[in-house]
Amino acid sequence: MNEEFKVTPWEVTGKVDYARLIQEFGTEPIDDELLQRWKHVTGSIPMAMQRKIFFSHRDLKWLLDKYERGEKFVLYTGRGPSGDTHLGHLMPWMFTKYLQDTFDVPLYFQMTDDEKYLSKDELSLKDAISFSYENALDVIALGFDPKKTYIFSDLEYDKTLYRIAVEVAKRITFSTAKAVFGFDSSTNIGMIFFTSMQSAPAFLPSVQAGRNVPVLIPQAIDQDPHFRITRDVAPKLGFYKPAAIHCTFLPSLAGSAKMSASLPETAIYTTDEPKTARKKILSAFTGGRVSVEEQRKMGGVPDVCAVFQYYYYVFEEDREKLSERERKCVGGEIMCGECKQDLADRVVRFLEKHQEKREEAKDKVLDYVVSDYSAVYDRLKRPQDKKEVARLKKTMKEYYSVKEGDSILIKRTWELE
Ligand code: TYM
Repeated sequence: MNEEFKVTPWEVTGKVDYARLIQEFGTEPIDDELLQRWKHVTGSIPMAMQRKIFFSHRDLKWLLDKYERGEKFVLYTGRGPSGDTHLGHLMPWMFTKYLQDTFDVPLYFQMTDDEKYLSKDELSLKDAISFSYENALDVIALGFDPKKTYIFSDLEYDKTLYRIAVEVAKRITFSTAKAVFGFDSSTNIGMIFFTSMQSAPAFLPSVQAGRNVPVLIPQAIDQDPHFRITRDVAPKLGFYKPAAIHCTFLPSLAGSAKMSASLPETAIYTTDEPKTARKKILSAFTGGRVSVEEQRKMGGVPDVCAVFQYYYYVFEEDREKLSERERKCVGGEIMCGECKQDLADRVVRFLEKHQEKREEAKDKVLDYVVSDYSAVYDRLKRPQDKKEVARLKKTMKEYYSVKEGDSILIKRTWELE
């Protein structure tokens, strides 16, 4: 990894050179030829691909070949629930929603509460599980098809996932984990094993279907190291290698490479009060000059401006309007204050809508969640052996987010059409 920037699943620092990352990670760029192919298959090219926000892939052509031959794929993506969801996390998820709508395919969504517990000193197991639930509300709020979407937490779908994870783990050496993730002797052993849990859902559709099912994993590029390993292991287990599509990072409001939960003042959370979000945007880093006079004379620098990036990534879909804003900025015709106010209005409108859907999602959780604890619940509902029920209740109270009396419908295995 080069010195000026660093991209791992747990840390992104410096100014990321994405072209270089493609080389270092060994992925492929999404070039114009692939975009045209995409258009041929789906009828259009989404904004996030036109703007090269989704810029890199693995085996996308292979996936499209399969699709065109009638072999449907499954989408797989996820979240490490260590806190509230921010706009950066929503980016790959919104794109995943576009993919589900376009290809009409199932989505497996993994909440890696185990990973976050293992990697964050201050996070308790209970809090990680409870963030799984909170973050799931954001996923559901985006409107995924409940009949085709399966959200699960590692800690509550462990029985299903673990069986695959051990098969993966047996085929990864410690030296590979060290080389890929930079682990050393002080790394806890849970983290060393964890990548096999993140691999497991890439094979789960095949295990459940009893035949190979192609999988596409939308993600920001920081997650790629996990799936490099998954892809190496896949043929050893007789599975297809999962395909991947990678996005760049929505920057923080301070202009740094990645919106990150470790700098809450420079991230917009889906749960932020509108006035809090507005305040954060008004304090954002821009490419403006020191004075209005100077800006009128010399113009701003959209390339380094966090506010402009927000228009580019999410909040200005119209290409002409985006170019017009850029032109006006460079020409000194528009000042940073105006640009920020306008963005704040758009972000607030977005948040208000999202928060409404997020509230509604609270009544829909059971339509989306899959878990291994269905059997436990069944037994609680039909208590024959009082002693055992008492034991189960105790265990569940201690370890699981779901409680006795919660009516919880657990979707069972998904069946391929
Ligand atoms: P996590 O919780 O760090 O991030 C969730 C998803 O959001 C992406 N992401 C971003 N995308 C754009 N701009 C940003 N500023 C930004 N910050 C984060 C991440 O790449 C990720 O796609 N271990 C994973 C959870 C996971 C997963 C997966 C992710 C499990 N299975 C399969 C992708 C695909 C994690 O901690 O993600």
